Amino acid sequence: MSNTPLYPGRTAVVTGAALGIGLAACRRFASLGMKVCMADVDAERLTRARDEVAALAAGGSADVLAVPTDVAKSGDMRALKAATDAAFGDVGLLMNNAVTRVGGDVWQGQDNWRGAFDVNFWGIVNGIEVFVPDMIAAGTEAAVVNVGSKQGITNPPGNTAYNVTKAAVKAYTEGLQHSLRNSEGCRVNAHLLVPGWTTTGEKEHKPGAWLPDQVVDRLIAAITAGDFYIICPDTEVTSEMDRQRIIWGALDMTENRPPLSRWHPDYKATFDAWAAKN
Ligand SMILES: NC(=O)c1ccc[n+]([C@@H]2O[C@H](COP(=O)([O-])OP(=O)(O)OC[C@H]3O[C@@H](n4cnc5c(N)ncnc54)[C@H](O)[C@@H]3O)[C@@H](O)[C@H]2O)c1
Repeated sequence: MSNTPLYPGRTAVVTGAALGIGLAACRRFASLGMKVCMADVDAERLTRARDEVAALAAGGSADVLAVPTDVAKSGDMRALKAATDAAFGDVGLLMNNAVTRVGGDVWQGQDNWRGAFDVNFWGIVNGIEVFVPDMIAAGTEAAVVNVGSKQGITNPPGNTAYNVTKAAVKAYTEGLQHSLRNSEGCRVNAHLLVPGWTTTGEKEHKPGAWLPDQVVDRLIAAITAGDFYIICPDTEVTSEMDRQRIIWGALDMTENRPPLSRWHPDYKATFDAWAAKN
């Protein structure tokens, strides 16, 4: 993996690290010999997660740092950066993964909407602003992984607030990568990780879902390949189905259909027929 930042001795910083995909990523980065800085708002769970990751790290607990952090607070993120620099430095990978599912539909109220944006969008902006300038200045290969969602691409009805935050993450990360690739001498690349349905925490693992380690397998392969879009399938939704759903959503606009036509009863048969041919 010499052409990637994922090699022994470098530092990975992961938010939302106490559970799910974030924790699985930390376990993997530790197994690769990286130093790992774990950030999460749930301090108690974070302590347990740190012990789990330290058991896999080459240097044991000396290679793993846990910093209770609310990503929505820029001061917390600055403290996370200071703690990372003091312990390890040399950040090769920043994974902005923390999430809240508060939100709801358009009538849910601004408090919910702002709560969703504070974590899912501004948490990522905080991470980028605090960590990335020094990653660029270091002049070494480095990666930023912002975690989005298919809900931010195809916008299914239900939790519209969550969808909008994840659509913002997609647009922001695309703009970020454009900016990075046009900065002279910059060796930092951004990636948009889009997990499919993934079982995390104590949730019952259902047959259609992936496990967090499968998402991490896909992430590592995609960083190594230099892919920007990392759209994970699951056991129920194939990559081919994702491709069709993304294209169909874009066609709503260009074909002047109602929005979210996939969930519109008048268009169900049309979608099914189109998907069978495309
Ligand atoms: N699990 C899925 O099916 C799925 C699907 C699509 C996208 N995703 C995305 O993948 C990422 C990880 O999802 P997951 O299911 O593993 O999450 P999870 O719910 O299992 O864990 C999220 C972690 O984020 C932490 N967190 C919440 N608010 C925080 C804050 N303000 N500051 C710091 N940490 C905070 C929580 O304490 C928790 O440990 C998220 O960005 C999510 O949107 C997940």
